[in-house]
Amino acid sequence: MTGGVAAYKSVELARRLRDAEASVTVIMTEASARFITPLSLETASQNRVYRSLFDDPMAHIALPSAADLLLVAPATANSIAKFANGIADDLLSTCFLAATGVRTLIAPAMNRRMYENPAFRRNLDSLRESGVLQVGPSQGFLACGEEGIGRMAEVPEIIEAAAAALTPKDLAGEKVLITAGPTREYIDPVRFISNRSSGKMGFALARAARNRGAEVTLVTGPTCLTPPPGVLCVSVETSDDMLFEVQNRAGIDATILVMAAAVADFGPECRADSKIDKTDLLTLTLKKTKDIVATIGGGGRRPFIVGFAAETGQNPDRAEQKMRSKGMDMIVFNDVTEPGSGFDTDTNRVVLIDRAGRHALELMSKDDVADAVFDRLREIKA
Ligand code: C5P
Repeated sequence: MTGGVAAYKSVELARRLRDAEASVTVIMTEASARFITPLSLETASQNRVYRSLFDDPMAHIALPSAADLLLVAPATANSIAKFANGIADDLLSTCFLAATGVRTLIAPAMNRRMYENPAFRRNLDSLRESGVLQVGPSQGFLACGEEGIGRMAEVPEIIEAAAAALTPKDLAGEKVLITAGPTREYIDPVRFISNRSSGKMGFALARAARNRGAEVTLVTGPTCLTPPPGVLCVSVETSDDMLFEVQNRAGIDATILVMAAAVADFGPECRADSKIDKTDLLTLTLKKTKDIVATIGGGGRRPFIVGFAAETGQNPDRAEQKMRSKGMDMIVFNDVTEPGSGFDTDTNRVVLIDRAGRHALELMSKDDVADAVFDRLREIKA
């Protein structure tokens, strides 16, 4: 931690990192201890807090050697200048200099004019060129009362960047196209047919693939979720829009297609141009939507295809049949009626089905399901 107003967020950050099962050791600069007490960080990290080069004469070597990640949050302009120029005049800057070979992530926080100052930009560019990772800053209200760029990234974004920094890049070189969320099939300009999909599974897959080094495009129907940073996000509404985007993108250069979207299976036969009077809308004639995955699965040069089958009831045979008939390589089955599974939950219990067999997994977070899908995919592709 270095000395900026955003230091108050670092208490929460230490706490959330522990929740994510990280072991956390905090190094505070003298300036940071003017904003937040070391006792708060000791409590949040459940660990000794280091402040001076002279607390423990070998700490500047021992601490970086024991770390998987060196995370500086907040990182002030002064600390970044020191890191970029190899200045080692306190415990944190000395640890930074000794942390060669340790993944390093900084979360800059400062006034917008300081952030845009060419002297600062040179320091930041030089750190980036030497492989230091960066999260934030974002735009918004700054502590000084001004508005602009310079706010430290929020805690969940920093945790996500830390997880990405720590994940082995076993999907490097892959171009992964993922679909997520529901689609909307319009009856008229104000009414549509849709389903309960929240998009959480597709977004978790996008984060997992990005963390593992893939280039990720996420084609998503309407959701309340924030697009994951570092992912190309394409918003669509109808199944026809989704078909267009998937065909264009999968056809060009995707190496993996993951169809996690709950594409509406039926839509109105025709869409009215103006709002239908309620007295006129007594019968709705439906037609089947085009099957997106089947059009890709039936093609010649095609990506590795993973589909999803959300069923009501334990029906993995039906899911396997879908995998074969739609030309997929793998399908993820889940029973949406099971507690903790399916729509709008953060967890899922799935069966991974491919041409070699089935793997029933325990109830787990959607993030863990996403990693399990890519683990299995790598086994099959190998
Ligand atoms: O709806 P169904 O259970 O058949 O969906 C299985 C898979 O097919 C899912 O991966 C879904 O994204 C995909 N699908 C599609 N186009 C549709 C309907 C479903 O690509 N129109």
